[in-house]
Amino acid sequence: MYSLQDLRDVIVALCDSPIVISPWLAYIRYGVDFESDVYETMRDEAHEFSLLHWNESYDINVFGTLPVSPRLPENAFYETAISTAYYYSYNQGKSTIIHQDAAKQAIWSLTTFIEQHGFDKFVSTYAYVTAYENYVALNYYGEMRELDFVFGKLHRPWITYTLRDELMFMHVLGVVEVFIKNNTRYIRLTDLGKQRFFEIQHFLDEVGFLSLRSNLLRISSFSELNDYDNIFDVIFPMGKKIRKQLLDLAIPEPGMKVLEFGCGSGSFTLESGLADTVGPKGLVLGIDPAPGLLAQANYKVKTAHKPWVQFVHGIAEHLPYADNTFDLVIGFASLHLTNWNKAIRELRRVLKKGGLFASAHSIHHQVDLPFFTEWFEPIFKLPGTTLNSSSMPLEKEIPNALQVGFSDLQSFIQMAPTVYAHPEYVVRFLIQSVDLYANRMLQLPWGERQKLFDHLIDRGQEILEKYSNEELTVDYPVQFVLARKVE
Ligand SMILES: C[S@@+](CC[C@H](N)C(=O)[O-])C[C@H]1O[C@@H](n2cnc3c(N)ncnc32)[C@H](O)[C@@H]1O
Repeated sequence: MYSLQDLRDVIVALCDSPIVISPWLAYIRYGVDFESDVYETMRDEAHEFSLLHWNESYDINVFGTLPVSPRLPENAFYETAISTAYYYSYNQGKSTIIHQDAAKQAIWSLTTFIEQHGFDKFVSTYAYVTAYENYVALNYYGEMRELDFVFGKLHRPWITYTLRDELMFMHVLGVVEVFIKNNTRYIRLTDLGKQRFFEIQHFLDEVGFLSLRSNLLRISSFSELNDYDNIFDVIFPMGKKIRKQLLDLAIPEPGMKVLEFGCGSGSFTLESGLADTVGPKGLVLGIDPAPGLLAQANYKVKTAHKPWVQFVHGIAEHLPYADNTFDLVIGFASLHLTNWNKAIRELRRVLKKGGLFASAHSIHHQVDLPFFTEWFEPIFKLPGTTLNSSSMPLEKEIPNALQVGFSDLQSFIQMAPTVYAHPEYVVRFLIQSVDLYANRMLQLPWGERQKLFDHLIDRGQEILEKYSNEELTVDYPVQFVLARKVE
């Protein structure tokens, strides 16, 4: 039976692939819809693929001496295929319906992944990653009604099958126990189960899966900020000024090829003057993973008639451009949301020799003002973790990453006000999208996460009545870094 260590390479490859294992991480909030026949096609594909490719030796690799769950391979294939297809559909046109092309593309990506890594290893990976969500829920609730668990009511409501097999495995492995209270069957983690949960969590953190999980949730929230520009201006009244300041430091020139990473709704490129400075003889490409924000950027560029500007879907860690392409790569308020070491290496790769890297981003900063601790107490009450998935870089981290392959590093910090006077915006932007407390939020199962956001908006209304606008304005550090790719 494969251990987590045996699957290390597969999980790392999964984090680097377009494959999404859970519908939750594929931006699904309101259930999955399919274009006509797509549902049947995907179910059939999953069934046929499993019949054709599963073999007896895989039962030993995946289940060892545990009872075999004959539906697991098919469920693993199906759930991953629909999550990936949904992810494609959403990214390609913000569609919440899985269309035919996305389904085909997803099945192709998944079968290619399985060919490379083995069906048994894929199914084991799926089992560990989804079991993680079971552990999170049991650890959070302490005890759960067995039926709530089995139907995934509070932690995996998207399943189209029951979790009876998974519960049985957990039982056989001694990680859960069943007990009866008020004539109802309940389940809870045993001491061994709690230990196993921490082991799995630390492993998934170490291999990068938890960061990926937080990032996918974060991007889906950004994508739903329909009124992004307004929210940003209310929370960061100095935002426009700082965008301009970054631009003035980078000194773009007419005719340059520029990449803006994390372009969001296109405000930096279009409204701060980057596009106009570069002009029609140059090229400005904006890249961002949030389809909803890209739609806003594309709407603006269409009405602005600036054909030398394009906004495309993507992440800073994987750029679809050749080495040595850009004169300038620049990002405003986005580097802290990436896996910055990876992103900096990738951004350096696409930069021409002597080209400039420029970024202004947030760094870690502890706020312990009374209104803040009072408002966000439910988050601070969640147990802290020592996991890597906290969201903000420490002051030295990004300048240190620029020591390799860059010269002429400039780095400084400037304080800028953040206004906490609009509870809904603050929660949707800072808590849900920036995910300031990713490290603690990942302790929450699906249902509790959304509930907590709503609760924090209500608490914010009470905070507004108690504190003045001045008291709700906090200075937060913005780090500027500029460096040249070595010749
Ligand atoms: C605070 S917004 C800043 C947007 C824009 N630069 C501006 O000036 O308003 C952060 C942006 O980073 C994007 N982002 C998150 N993860 C990213 C990644 N891995 N690569 C590139 N952009 C990312 C988000 O989707 C979001 O649009």
